[in-house]
Amino acid sequence: MVISLAKRATQAQEYYFSVKLAEVRKLLAAGHDVINMGIGNPDQAPSEATIEALKNTASLTDTHGYQSYKGIPALRQGISKWYERVYGVQLDPEHEILPLIGSKEGITHISLTFLDEGDEVLVPELGYPAYRAVSEMVGATVIEYPLQENNQWQPDWEAMKGIVSAKTKILWLNYPHMPTGAPATRELFENAVRFAKEHGILLCHDNPYSLILNQKPPISLLSIEGAKEVAIELNSMSKSHNMAGWRIGWLSGAKEYVDAVLTIKSNVDSGMFLGIQQAAVAALQNSEEWHAAQNAVYHSRLDAAKTFLTTLNCTFDLAQEGMFLWAKLPDEVASAEQLVDDLLYQKHIFIAPGFIFGPKGQRYIRVSLCMPAERIWQAIERLKS
Ligand SMILES: Cc1ncc(COP(=O)(O)O)c(C=O)c1O
Repeated sequence: MVISLAKRATQAQEYYFSVKLAEVRKLLAAGHDVINMGIGNPDQAPSEATIEALKNTASLTDTHGYQSYKGIPALRQGISKWYERVYGVQLDPEHEILPLIGSKEGITHISLTFLDEGDEVLVPELGYPAYRAVSEMVGATVIEYPLQENNQWQPDWEAMKGIVSAKTKILWLNYPHMPTGAPATRELFENAVRFAKEHGILLCHDNPYSLILNQKPPISLLSIEGAKEVAIELNSMSKSHNMAGWRIGWLSGAKEYVDAVLTIKSNVDSGMFLGIQQAAVAALQNSEEWHAAQNAVYHSRLDAAKTFLTTLNCTFDLAQEGMFLWAKLPDEVASAEQLVDDLLYQKHIFIAPGFIFGPKGQRYIRVSLCMPAERIWQAIERLKS
């Protein structure tokens, strides 16, 4: 006997990476040295103070119990001070911040909190796959909005007027943008807030990349005047603080929105281990020099990644931010899927095909900067051999 699945489980697709990484593991098990340039998994360590805080908390006897659903006060205060220092945004630590087990978790909580069946959600035609997947899981209708390649992959606000409807509830936004690396600009955020107000929709901004290879000071959507009325922002320590496996991020926004998400969240999961929260408090105090040192490492990798892409005859924009390079395939390459498989099986190099972020990505690839520069140079040698 086989018990039938819920409709959402039959409709949801297995994450592309989980399928492809199984193939990578098979090659590794067969003794091949695969250079994995596919996934955005920071390979550098968190700061020493971060690790010390975790160790110290873990070594005490009374620190292992359940934690509050809304995180320890010290963490919310730390996040509030960090928002002020990094973005010049003031957040009330008591009411406007909700610590989360990463921003991916936040996408689900937000969707459960704001979406009813039949509501429409605007997602970028190229973007993090979870916005679409979770919207569909909760029974909402996904409407893709176009991104203008010739305008740094920003939405066309005129065209957006033709897409928005009375049923539209959420607009997902993510700048610096993954996968294209398009930077955030104040003008973009001002337009987004104006649009959300005009149409009475919630703007959900996902902001995990603002400190990685940023070419200008980082921006929060919440720094735009009046944004808190219609916008909430996810942030994460996964990339900016090299803590992807620790699972910690947060949501910021007006009290009414944060409280509503907390009600859902408290029915789904529990507070993070105290050691992780204390470690995050320490990490949020990392110096500017610490962040600059991480970016110096990414810069050295960027040079190698550019050579890798030019060796493949790909073209790319130099204004990209974040921990990837997004590149267009040359005409002679039949398809991204073919190239990814050829590289994987003939050269033992894994890269991400652009279509996993949306159909618009058919003729693109994304390479990650999350490995030592020497590995990227090794990949270049393999391409040439
Ligand atoms: C755009 C974007 N949002 C969210 C996430 C999830 O991050 P977290 O580790 O905070 O769950 C990722 C991770 O790759 C991402 O690229």
